[in-house]
Amino acid sequence: MSAATQLLKQHLQQRQLQGVTHIPLRAEALEKLSGLGRKPAIREMPEAPKPIAVESALEARRILDNPPPETKKAGLIEVAGASIEEKLAALRAMAETWEPALALNSLRKTMVFAVGDPHARLMFVGEAPGAEEEKLREPFVGPAGQKLTAIIKAMGLDRPQVYISNICKFRPAMDNQGSANRKPTAEEMKACLPFVLTEIDLIKPQVIVALGATAAEGLGIPGSVGGLRGRFHSTSGIPTMVTYHPSYLLREEKMGDGIHAKRQVWEDMLKVMEKLGLPISEKQRGYFKAK
Ligand code: URA
Repeated sequence: MSAATQLLKQHLQQRQLQGVTHIPLRAEALEKLSGLGRKPAIREMPEAPKPIAVESALEARRILDNPPPETKKAGLIEVAGASIEEKLAALRAMAETWEPALALNSLRKTMVFAVGDPHARLMFVGEAPGAEEEKLREPFVGPAGQKLTAIIKAMGLDRPQVYISNICKFRPAMDNQGSANRKPTAEEMKACLPFVLTEIDLIKPQVIVALGATAAEGLGIPGSVGGLRGRFHSTSGIPTMVTYHPSYLLREEKMGDGIHAKRQVWEDMLKVMEKLGLPISEKQRGYFKAK
């Protein structure tokens, strides 16, 4: 093996450890590398940009350390780490001082990231933290969070088995705020969007549930919950169910018993359970059916 090929191989292994899975190389470079036992690391990009001549060891180092922008997945943040846990920790650290969000001056400064299993098959996405979430620095711990936890339990799961995140990582600010909360604006969600997209890319859940129309809009699924719920949409290719936000269920409960809204959310969750292949008992099928 030539010195250049050896160096190239080392760099590919290094990039793979950093989580990079695709590097565009022209056919000659692939040929040189064949037989090195690392083929998955050097799969050709499906839409390979201009061929890159790997002519010398120095050139190889330059190209591998500075991949052309086309090789970075659109809208994602590149994070270093040997495991999903390490990458999520690096991502969380970056979110703490995320300038595009903080520069808006419309969000508070305490970052609330996410909670749950980095290997979860099911991910819930809300809109933004509220007062309780900001205090405890954990999403969905206030009244809406307790409702969400009850939904998760009704599905036969425990909260630590799923992953819970928000599109916007900071509590939206208001004048004379006290304990009042507001929905994040499209601009505030856009500033934080790379985080939730990168979380999705790292966790690779089998199903996402978008809680409410704001979260759905943040994920690129615009519309009313009434019009979107009951069927799967797609977020980066992952089946995504849109359902009512737990706060809506709480409001409906206050105005009556809220059984109709609860049944609608539950029907959405039954579809999610079916998609995940979770067992569903007759009792579960019957929850919130009007008598
Ligand atoms: N509502 C949300 O959308 N997210 C939270 O974390 C709490 C309430």
